[in-house]
Amino acid sequence: MDKIVVEGGSRLVGKIPISGAKNAALPLLAAALLPTGTSTFKNVPLLQDVATMAKLLRKLGWDVEGTGTNALTIASPVSRKKLKLEAPYELVKTMRASVLVLGPLVARYGRARVSMPGGCAIGARPIDQHLKGLEAMGAKVTLEHGYVEVECKRLRGATIVLDMPTVTGCENLMMAAALAKGRTVIENAAREPEVEELALVLNKMGAKVQGGGTPIITIEGVDELSPIEHSIIPDRIEAGTFAVAAAMTRGDVLLEGARPEHMDAIVAKLRAAGVQVSAESGGLRVRGAGELKPIDIVTQPHPGFPTDMQAQFMVLACLAKGQSVLKEMIFENRFMHVPELGRMGADIQISGRAAVVRGGTKLTGASVMATDLRASASLVLAGLVAAGKTEVLRVYHLDRGYEAIEKKLRGCGAKIRRVKT
Ligand code: EPZ
Repeated sequence: MDKIVVEGGSRLVGKIPISGAKNAALPLLAAALLPTGTSTFKNVPLLQDVATMAKLLRKLGWDVEGTGTNALTIASPVSRKKLKLEAPYELVKTMRASVLVLGPLVARYGRARVSMPGGCAIGARPIDQHLKGLEAMGAKVTLEHGYVEVECKRLRGATIVLDMPTVTGCENLMMAAALAKGRTVIENAAREPEVEELALVLNKMGAKVQGGGTPIITIEGVDELSPIEHSIIPDRIEAGTFAVAAAMTRGDVLLEGARPEHMDAIVAKLRAAGVQVSAESGGLRVRGAGELKPIDIVTQPHPGFPTDMQAQFMVLACLAKGQSVLKEMIFENRFMHVPELGRMGADIQISGRAAVVRGGTKLTGASVMATDLRASASLVLAGLVAAGKTEVLRVYHLDRGYEAIEKKLRGCGAKIRRVKT
């Protein structure tokens, strides 16, 4: 298991290229199960989760070329003999987004068998909304031996009101509805840019999706879809993570390719903390000049403040003079970075869903580790400003969602390296 070693104290100055969005790439690769033929995706991020999804598509019988590059082609099986409509436990347990193959497979082949994703470090993360929606479309759902089996000769359109705007739940149901008979209306739909991107790509395939990115998505089912070529949108959470790094180190960084319109809540909170943010030459420029101000944050579904940026802003709050309160309203256990930051000198008290940060304490380097992707990223950020050396262990968490994070930071002056252990 590799580790990342950071020497604190460098200002970040320069440019960071933003990669394609992990949380767009994963549903789009699943959507490539829908058409017959070969689809091509460009600007694919080099991430462990993308490699896992490619492995899953191969297990199902699709040919996936280009793994390890930023372009992937996905070709449907030439004969049904190659089909294996099952997502096995050993893959699903490493990446819960595997559940995204459920909708496409049932819509196209009338059945699918997917290992229940089970919980993960940040919470129980059930898929009841995914299954409720498929049942509303006529599917028979059975749970046994840790697998969910979904069967339906031909899904039919339905009106589905989600209990909460689940991102992958909404994406699964959009893909299922694309080939269903009749009209599906998804109410209380997720509004994330990645959901809007999926709607756009489904329409490129010949689907009839309206309202992507709004709370009500309407899909008129069609009989078949065509393969496409598409370049994936930039990762707003990667961009947000590096924006916080620039702010914390009083740096001046251009996030190349970042889309400000996907990051309104993140930009608003950066500005509230006293950070200068401006849209410039095809990206976002972030300058951390003066003193950082405390900020209060409540994580919400998009367009609210994203839960995937909570850990990173907590580190920013540690540097601000005064008290900040961060409330995690989406997941029940997403404060695992707190004890690790505490070991670096942060003063953070958790009470229920709120973390109260008394900023202004000096952070010192330490050996730290976390058990989820964004918590690990926040420890790298802390290492950039902590006095001395910080070792972030279990780097495989980072590799799931950040392409070459140490190279990108080193390119702006950070003293950071990966050590193979
Ligand atoms: C997506 O996860 C993202 N992953 C997550 O990013 C992100 O944190 C999350 O959305 C929230 O924005 C991908 O897009 C691949 P949800 P998802 O379904 O879809 C509850 C990262 O770091 N819920 O929107 O799994 C659930 O427990 C990852 O990149 C149900 O109760 O999240 C949670 O409390 C982490 N029943 C809330 O809804 C369901 O059927 C939001 O979950 C589905 C969800």
